[in-house]
Amino acid sequence: MIYQKVDDAQNIFDLRDMAKRRLPKWLFEFVDRGTEDEWALGNNREAFQRIRLRPRMLVDVSGRTLDTTVFGKTHKMPIGIAPTGAAGMMWYQGELDLARAAKEAGIPFSLATGSITSMEKIAGEVGGTLWMQLYMWADRSLSHQLVRRASAAGFEALLVTVDGAVAGNREYNRRNGFSVPFRYNRRNTTDVLLHPRWMFGVLGRYIMNGGMPQRVNFPKELQAKITREYGGNKETRADSLNWDDLKALRDIWPGKLLVKGLLHPDDASQSVDLGADGVIVSNHGGRNCDCAPSPIEVLPEIVAAVGERTTVLFDSGVRRGSDVVKALALGAKMVLIGRSTLYGTAAAGYAGAKRALDIYRSEISRGMAQISCNRVSEIARHHVAFDWELHGPSYAASAPRAPESEAMLPRDNVSALRR
Ligand SMILES: Cc1cc2nc3c(=O)[nH]c(=O)nc-3n(C[C@H](O)[C@H](O)[C@H](O)COP(=O)(O)O)c2cc1C
Repeated sequence: MIYQKVDDAQNIFDLRDMAKRRLPKWLFEFVDRGTEDEWALGNNREAFQRIRLRPRMLVDVSGRTLDTTVFGKTHKMPIGIAPTGAAGMMWYQGELDLARAAKEAGIPFSLATGSITSMEKIAGEVGGTLWMQLYMWADRSLSHQLVRRASAAGFEALLVTVDGAVAGNREYNRRNGFSVPFRYNRRNTTDVLLHPRWMFGVLGRYIMNGGMPQRVNFPKELQAKITREYGGNKETRADSLNWDDLKALRDIWPGKLLVKGLLHPDDASQSVDLGADGVIVSNHGGRNCDCAPSPIEVLPEIVAAVGERTTVLFDSGVRRGSDVVKALALGAKMVLIGRSTLYGTAAAGYAGAKRALDIYRSEISRGMAQISCNRVSEIARHHVAFDWELHGPSYAASAPRAPESEAMLPRDNVSALRR
């Protein structure tokens, strides 16, 4: 289907289709796909399908509001933007566009360590509620430099990503020739030439205005053009990451400290013991460990373990407002959105990011009305049921599943659908 305008997109899957048409394949797949056999990616969507909302009736919900308070601040929706570092490649200066859309929508924006817009620029030109994501480098003092910089720039929370100590095994990136350093080959060059809107509108504009984008939040020692080697995994992935690192960060970071990428209640507990203000239950959108459970499957046990003493946030696999409502019902206080707003940004920059957020606003509001909730804080466990709670344990295994999009399917099935 060809969409004339971004407002024609009826849902996040339509925005994904638009992004797919605009971006070179290697870039689209970098954003869209998972890792290895893409089990985690598929299961992130399927797990939501195994959870039902329990509609309630005859409550006046005409005055409902999506206002959400986390960390002592009220936001306009129970969602925030997850760190991805990719919006700047979706659209020229896309990180500014996405941050602006988040600010206009009254929700937090997280900037990734690997983004191509500096934290000072985001804070100075956009503002709003800004959170900074941190990857820990082998040389810890370099990461600590970034932390101090984020604090000076006025970022309110630090999201320490702990599920990326080793890189996911993304075979499609290697097949597509997408790597750091970027290697030009006939395939990826032809791919760019076949997407002139991206070639001229994004890549061309960067080149005309100062050259290839850089990872401007990296300390000088690691910074380099994103197409060049910047030290390799040895320096930029710390597989020695451990609890002492979290303790050290707690000592130097004055703002809210969130641990991102947890899937086990004991890790959540230990994070809180060491002073974290919140945990983000996440499997990195199915991009790192292909055998990880879907975060929505483990959210209840994590909330049971730490929900009384910390703020539990959630991400991975969210594409619908109803997914947000389900995560809130299972105890999350806010849901972070990754790919959905990247698709929007790729489709039409600020207008596309805004469209994605408008879709979420309307879908969350509809979901709340359907379960008779006027406030986000009213959404509770009794508003959802797992399939097995409704039908018994044997049901979930045998139930037929209707694919809602190729994004939730393993690749082989996608190819089968296309045939
Ligand atoms: C293209 C892309 C890049 C990402 N980069 C980062 C990153 O630099 N740091 C991080 O903590 N998470 C990163 N993530 C993971 C997101 O923060 C988030 O956990 C995930 O996208 C949520 O799943 P969803 O895309 O299904 O919403 C990235 C995700 C994508 C899609």
